Amino acid sequence: MAETREQWHSRTAFIMAAVGSAVGLGNVWRFPYVAYSSGGGAFLIPYFVALFTAGIPMLILEMGLGQRMQKGIPLAFGSVRKPLQWFGWWAAGLSAGIVIYYSTILAWAWVYLWHSFKLSWGDQPQTFFIENVLHRSSGPGEIGWPVLSLVIGMALTWLTIYLILRKGVRSVSKVVMITVPLPMLLLAVLLVRGLTLDGAMDGIRYYLTPDFSKLWDLSIWLKAYGQIFFSLSLASGVMIGYGSYLGKKAEITNSAFITGLANCGTSFFAGFVVFSMLGYLAKIQGLPISEVAEGGSGLAFVTFPTAISQLPALNVLFGAIFFITLLTLGIDSAFALQEAFTTGFNDKWRIPAEKLARYFVLIAFPISLIFVTRGGFYWFDIVDKWICDFGLVISGLIQCIAVGYLYRVGEFRDYLNSQSEVRLGRWWIWALRYVTPVILLIILTGNIRTEITERYSDYPRWATLIGGWGVLLFWLVLGYVLYKRPAKANRT
Ligand code: PFF
Repeated sequence: MAETREQWHSRTAFIMAAVGSAVGLGNVWRFPYVAYSSGGGAFLIPYFVALFTAGIPMLILEMGLGQRMQKGIPLAFGSVRKPLQWFGWWAAGLSAGIVIYYSTILAWAWVYLWHSFKLSWGDQPQTFFIENVLHRSSGPGEIGWPVLSLVIGMALTWLTIYLILRKGVRSVSKVVMITVPLPMLLLAVLLVRGLTLDGAMDGIRYYLTPDFSKLWDLSIWLKAYGQIFFSLSLASGVMIGYGSYLGKKAEITNSAFITGLANCGTSFFAGFVVFSMLGYLAKIQGLPISEVAEGGSGLAFVTFPTAISQLPALNVLFGAIFFITLLTLGIDSAFALQEAFTTGFNDKWRIPAEKLARYFVLIAFPISLIFVTRGGFYWFDIVDKWICDFGLVISGLIQCIAVGYLYRVGEFRDYLNSQSEVRLGRWWIWALRYVTPVILLIILTGNIRTEITERYSDYPRWATLIGGWGVLLFWLVLGYVLYKRPAKANRT
């Protein structure tokens, strides 16, 4: 009997979910930092070029492939060429890998939300983060036990993910109506607070003053492409999975444009929030902005708490708002990643959503505890680096080649044009066949060269072999096993 696939409540729900998966912690702690260190306002040029020549074309490819095949990444690629199902499982495995370590950041955010009520970090936020929250050991070889408060944060994160995913796309359709607008609203509140602080304008000037000479530097262009890729959650199967829950007649191209532009607009906007606060912090500490400006976890868990403590009033309120923003930003990226992986099991073995959500969380939660041990921070850092710098880049490359060369891409474009609001010209095929793969290849070669010549963060080789290459290899093997396991009767 023909079964119909679950579907989004509405087109808005789909776009909201896609924006929710794209807009995450990266928009707040990665974009502003990359932008200011890569030419300030001038960085917007390579950034938007990357968005239109690689980001949106890939987004259309992923959403369109999912929608056309009505399947998540493993079987969608298996329908292009059978052996590509193996690749699909590998890429889906990367998204499972990401959500398992991404949950760590959410666990930190829960713990900080708790501490924000008493501003417990006091005047030593750096020491507080490393010693009181992470209980960080001296290196990846000294793992130790999981830290209790972080285990609680981790449990809360997985419980939330389970509750959201157990009813499948139906509950996601509802949840994203809150988890997408809420952090935007909270960012706007933080922005108003930030802009009215002393020194805010210095911060903004620092963020945006264009340095056009940087545009001659190839590495800035590669950074722009890398940032677009990560920010739009590409190559992990997320957008294919989400696209697969669209109806057979659904519009694709305009939705992809809306998603891409909304995501990049949020990044740009978040930069104002971050740099107005940094401007203030620099002013009251009497330091140059370059000394307070940080990216990554340092920004969210050290610099921001410092600024929050120094606000003239309502510190607790703004502290809580900031960490709720992080949680709501991150949670929809997290469940999108889990969904990208589990949807393959539903496609192939018809396992219901609740069971998949339950099994996944029951397996992933204990594994994720590695990242909240005393040495967990180092493992988090290694897995993140390898999955993003090698895994996702290789996955993106394979996707472009598979669709650009092994699939009838011209006919695919006609298919998309026949039901979409924005008509794709030949540029789309060019972007997929030439621009994106060439850039990804250059990025990959650069990353491999750096890995051979320098040791990442001075970690011992055995640690990067296990946490880096080992994780990528593990999914390759497991992906093969899943590929070879017979399916349970075909869905029509
Ligand atoms: N796009 C998310 C962010 O910018 O924070 C992170 C992310 C989610 C990356 C999902 C990759 C991914 F597959």
